[in-house]
Amino acid sequence: MKKEDIILQYLKESKDYLSGEELSRRLGISRSAIWKNINSLRESGYVIESVTNRGYRILNSSDALTPTEIQDGLSTEAFGQTVSVFAEIDSTNEEAKRQAHKGAPHGAVFVAEQQNGGKGRLGRPWQSPPKSGLWFTILLRPDAAPPQVSNLTLLAGLAVSRAIHTLTGCEAKIKWPNDIVIGSKKVCGILTEMTAEIDRVHFAVVGIGVNVNDEGFAEELKIKATSLHLETGAPVSRVTLLQQILKEFEALYLEYFVQGSSRWLQAYKESCVSLNRTVGATRGHEKIIGTAVDITDGGELVVQTGDGERIEINSGEVVVQGIYGQTPEA
Ligand code: BTN
Repeated sequence: MKKEDIILQYLKESKDYLSGEELSRRLGISRSAIWKNINSLRESGYVIESVTNRGYRILNSSDALTPTEIQDGLSTEAFGQTVSVFAEIDSTNEEAKRQAHKGAPHGAVFVAEQQNGGKGRLGRPWQSPPKSGLWFTILLRPDAAPPQVSNLTLLAGLAVSRAIHTLTGCEAKIKWPNDIVIGSKKVCGILTEMTAEIDRVHFAVVGIGVNVNDEGFAEELKIKATSLHLETGAPVSRVTLLQQILKEFEALYLEYFVQGSSRWLQAYKESCVSLNRTVGATRGHEKIIGTAVDITDGGELVVQTGDGERIEINSGEVVVQGIYGQTPEA
């Protein structure tokens, strides 16, 4: 165990201040070495108070994005059993892909406090400032053919909506395929990418970005973005949320990819705000307007147009009446 982790453990166990002298005696290192380790813990996100003549005391241990906190009490088989945390990185999806090529295991999780090249769907940038958001990617190696991977994205959406509901009581719904909304505003986006041959997936990376503790948004975003803090009126632990998402996602993953069950699809449909609403989508250059009536076993959205034609949409932007303040236009 690293010295830093031992100090962390002592601080967590202690009900009172622990002096630098006491820590240095217990670890057999100098007080300045203790001080260096304390600073490194602070850089990882722990808030450690230091008071003259009394010593050190930890104030928040549960919301520091560190492998130790994330894995403490994590009840999964594979998801999150390997965790890498970055203070700043281009994009956790990019890092997951780089590490996948080097052999990182199924279920490995890559978390960043801040991304300087965060990516959204359809080539859009994804703003990923520090502190308020949860930005992470899970690397998966499903034994599956490429078409099944589009359902991976739906499973991730269902997992996030369940995790948010469990932790906050908020009715988090899914805008097909995998935006998570509360009311009519977006609280989470998901970007799935894969590397595959025609009939075999090498790996997939599922990147999840949740607005957790933002206390407000820029004027232009206010109409379409929200955060868990804004919805509940209180801060939410990013660590607990991450653990809950990993737990829900792994259970759904096993159900679909290992047991071969499609039971989850009914639950997804019940949580999907796009169904039974007017939606606008594009197929090639053609614009489609109709009512979203179903989701197929392959994860496509079925849109019924005014003349009764049923069209299956499998990707692209879908505008849903009333969500993000939008109205579908022909
Ligand atoms: C979207 O709604 O457009 C998808 C947003 C996905 C953002 C997450 S944040 C973690 C991961 N890393 C990225 O660069 N993107 C995803």
